[in-house]
Amino acid sequence: MPYRNCLSIIRDAAGVPRSLWGYQPWPSPAFSTPRPGCVVCARHSRRRKLAWSGQRSSTGSSASCSPRTTTACSGATACCRSTRAWGFFDDPRFAAAYREIAGSHRYDQYASPHTVAWRLHILVWAARNGLALDGDFVECGVFKGDFAWVVAQATDFVRQPKTFYLYDTFDGFAPAYSTADDFADAPGFFDFADRIYRDPAIYPEVVRRFSDCANIRVIRGVVPDILSDVAPEQIAFLHIDLNSPAAEIAALEILFDRVVPGGVIVFDDYGWHLFRKQKEAEDAFMAARGYHILELPTGQGMVIKRP
Ligand SMILES: C[S@@+](CC[C@H](N)C(=O)[O-])C[C@H]1O[C@@H](n2cnc3c(N)ncnc32)[C@H](O)[C@@H]1O
Repeated sequence: MPYRNCLSIIRDAAGVPRSLWGYQPWPSPAFSTPRPGCVVCARHSRRRKLAWSGQRSSTGSSASCSPRTTTACSGATACCRSTRAWGFFDDPRFAAAYREIAGSHRYDQYASPHTVAWRLHILVWAARNGLALDGDFVECGVFKGDFAWVVAQATDFVRQPKTFYLYDTFDGFAPAYSTADDFADAPGFFDFADRIYRDPAIYPEVVRRFSDCANIRVIRGVVPDILSDVAPEQIAFLHIDLNSPAAEIAALEILFDRVVPGGVIVFDDYGWHLFRKQKEAEDAFMAARGYHILELPTGQGMVIKRP
């Protein structure tokens, strides 16, 4: 059984990697035993167990449950009572967008019962901050577009006088910038992640997903190379999520100076051991410019550009 905070690849009985790290020991006491004051119905705990073991819930992606409901479970809503306020779920735009992507991140094993919700909350906060600034939005590393989708929905981006640039190879890591050595502590991770990223169904699905959003551009290409062809001059919100130390630094070399004062840069996966090479490279990059990256409990890093 993996240990808390100990990174490993969990394999199923056939030896196929199913999840990236054992952040929670499984079965997790946090979920197998309801906490005092927390009612977890059998239906939802089963769904969660299915999702966490790398399988799809037979009920689709509706495994999320509102954290604030106190009584009976009714399908997609309701069952976990928490001492946390989870105030961001009171925002109907965020809650609706989150429900759409919940369950999709079965590789992301967080102690939180709402897996990536806190990460998304931070991302949405950073993006909303950018709405008041000059400049466009950028995400480097899109995958299925889940995070960008939640940001776009929560900010009502189609109505904003801005463009959201979404960059990805949609074909996995770029050999010129990434190798298995980027994850020296976790042999097998590179191939595991790359295989997932290379799914040919992803690109057309992302294009379809954003096809109604005229101001969201899905751009297929290698970062940083593609940035010399198409990139905004001013950036109000920058999300870096390539899982590639060299590509992320090369992107920052081009994009950092374009982030406007007050604009927020969010570094995904900055605080996980598995991605420590990213952290080291980003810390050095920012230190050279007089910045210190704020490490967040979600594993993200954050910098606010100064005037
Ligand atoms: C962690 S995933 C991004 C997750 C995404 N932000 C989401 O909402 O789920 C990393 C993505 O970066 C892409 N990628 C890795 N290296 C790249 C590079 N040098 N240029 C473009 N895309 C790259 C991969 O294809 C993969 O889709």
